[in-house]
Amino acid sequence: MRGYQGVLPRTPSLEDESYLGFMESLRNQNILQFFPKIAAFAHEPNAEGDPRVRLWKRLMRSQQQQTWEKLQQSFDSQRAAYEDELAAAERARPGRLHADPTFQVPAYATLDIHLQPGGYVGDSLAGYVFHHGTKVFYQGANDQDELHRQVVDFVSAPESGEVKRVLDLGCSIGQCTTALKQRFPAAEVTGLDVGLPLLRYAHKRAVDLDIDVHFRHGLAEDTGLPSGQYDVILAYILFHEVPERLFKVILAEVFRLLRPGGRFTVVDAPNNRNLPAANKLWLKFDARYNCEPYSPAFVASDFQGLLQEAGFRVLESKPTPTFLHCTVAQKDDGASG
Ligand SMILES: C[S@@+](CC[C@H](N)C(=O)[O-])C[C@H]1O[C@@H](n2cnc3c(N)ncnc32)[C@H](O)[C@@H]1O
Repeated sequence: MRGYQGVLPRTPSLEDESYLGFMESLRNQNILQFFPKIAAFAHEPNAEGDPRVRLWKRLMRSQQQQTWEKLQQSFDSQRAAYEDELAAAERARPGRLHADPTFQVPAYATLDIHLQPGGYVGDSLAGYVFHHGTKVFYQGANDQDELHRQVVDFVSAPESGEVKRVLDLGCSIGQCTTALKQRFPAAEVTGLDVGLPLLRYAHKRAVDLDIDVHFRHGLAEDTGLPSGQYDVILAYILFHEVPERLFKVILAEVFRLLRPGGRFTVVDAPNNRNLPAANKLWLKFDARYNCEPYSPAFVASDFQGLLQEAGFRVLESKPTPTFLHCTVAQKDDGASG
C-alpha cells in the first residue's frame, strides 16, 4: 500500500521496484538490441537451431519466469493486507462487480498463460501480479495506461453517435474499461472476463481512480447479457488467447449483443500466414515457450471471413503502430440476430 505513481500502483517494496526495473531493462535489451540481430538471419533454413536464437529464447523465458516469481513472492508476503484491500473496494462501491459463485472456469482458461503461475484464475492476487508483470511486458511504455488509451482511440462508435452501453470483452484488469468510460462518459461501461482475481483487482483500481464502471465474471462465448443492447464492443488481445473452436461462438455472441448499427472493434495479432520470418519465429516462441498455445491458430485464421460469416460488415482493417492489427465490424440495420 505504497500509493500510486500516476495511475500505476507501487509494488509492496522499494526493492521490488528496483528488481522489476532490472527485468524491464533486460527485456528491453533482448527485444531492442538482441532481437534485430536474430531478425537479420531468421529466414535462413537452420535459424531455429542457431545458438544466438536459443540464447534469446532462454533469456526471454527466464526473464518472464523471474518477473512472475518475484511478484508472486512479494504480494504473497503481504497477502492478508491485499485481500483486505480488495474486499474494502467491494464494500466501498457495491453493485459494480458481478460474480456468480457457481461459475465454473472452463479448463481451457486455466493455463499458465505467459507463464504466470496459476494464469488468470489460480491466485486471488493474480490481478496485482498481472498489472506489474505487464508493466514489464510493455517495457515501461504503458505505465500510465498509454497503450490502453491508444487502443480505446481506435474503438469505432456507431454512425448515429448514440453510445449507451459499452462492453470490453476479456477486459483483464480493466485498463481499457476505465479508458472507455472516459471516452464515453454517459455510457454504462462493462468489462467482462473469465478471471475473477483480475476483475476484483480491476474493480479496486476503478474505485481508486473514481471511475464508475461495471465488471462481470463470465465467458465471452456465453455472456448471459441481454440481446441488442450494446452500441460498442471491444476485444483487445482476447482472440489469440482462446481456442480456435470458440472464434465463431464468440462472434455469434457479439453479434447477438450488439444493437443494429452497433460496432465491434478487435485489436489483436495480425491474421497473416505470410508474416516475415522474424515475426514467425517470435510467434512460435510465444506459443511454445511463453504459454500462448492458441495464438498460432488465430494468426492463421481468416478472421475477416469469420466476421462476415457471423453477419458483420467489415468497415476497416488496419495495422496499429504496434505489431497489432485493428479490425472494425458493424452489425448493419436490418441484420438478423
Ligand atoms: C491478454 S488478456 C486481454 C488484455 C485486456 N483486454 C487488456 O485490456 O489489457 C486476455 C484476457 O482474456 C480473458 N479471457 C480468456 N478467455 C476468455 C473467455 N472465454 N471469456 C472471457 N474472458 C476470457 C483472460 O482472462 C485475459 O484476461
